[in-house]
Amino acid sequence: MLQNKAWASEKLHEDPDFFNRLVDIQTPEFLWVGCSDSRVPADQITGTQPGEIFVHRNVANLVLHTDLNLLSVLQYAVEVLKVKHIIVCGHYNCGGIKAALTNHSFGIINKWLRNIKDVYRIHKEEFENLESEEEIVNKLTELNVKEQVLNLAKTSIVQKAWKHEQRPHLHGWVYDLHDGIINPVIEMPAGTHIDPLYEFDNL
Ligand code: CO
Repeated sequence: MLQNKAWASEKLHEDPDFFNRLVDIQTPEFLWVGCSDSRVPADQITGTQPGEIFVHRNVANLVLHTDLNLLSVLQYAVEVLKVKHIIVCGHYNCGGIKAALTNHSFGIINKWLRNIKDVYRIHKEEFENLESEEEIVNKLTELNVKEQVLNLAKTSIVQKAWKHEQRPHLHGWVYDLHDGIINPVIEMPAGTHIDPLYEFDNL
């Protein structure tokens, strides 16, 4: 509570209009889909201010077509806020990725992690020459981000906005806990063609 009071008065001091400006409207240009991990705060690592980034976070930054929470956030961000960019940001040393690479049962979250095991299975040949556990975890972290960006592109929500408004552009990043630096792993500009089987023709 004390921290909050100090923060609010500091913001007012820096910019007397700060709260007035944000009270009725938000116009973020970015939707962030990141990991729940406490070490990867979307606003701090991107240097963004309140009002600039719309955030959804879950374990291992997954984009699942059965996740009503993710889909609600995505639809609102794309169709109402009209974001220009969607960023899927994973991070090296992700507990969710590591857990998915084990044979241990963790309870309910097994169902969630199974989606990451599927990413491994789809890209199995890319792991053949990797030796250390760290290399395998890092590779799966990067492939998982790419797969989640592809999952965004498979949604009718994104395809409809691509067709009519040439946005949002999709970006896949991996954040490095060692140095705070973001490694871009995939860019998918609006209108990118994906496997035709996933492209809707009546949006
Ligand atoms: Co994580």
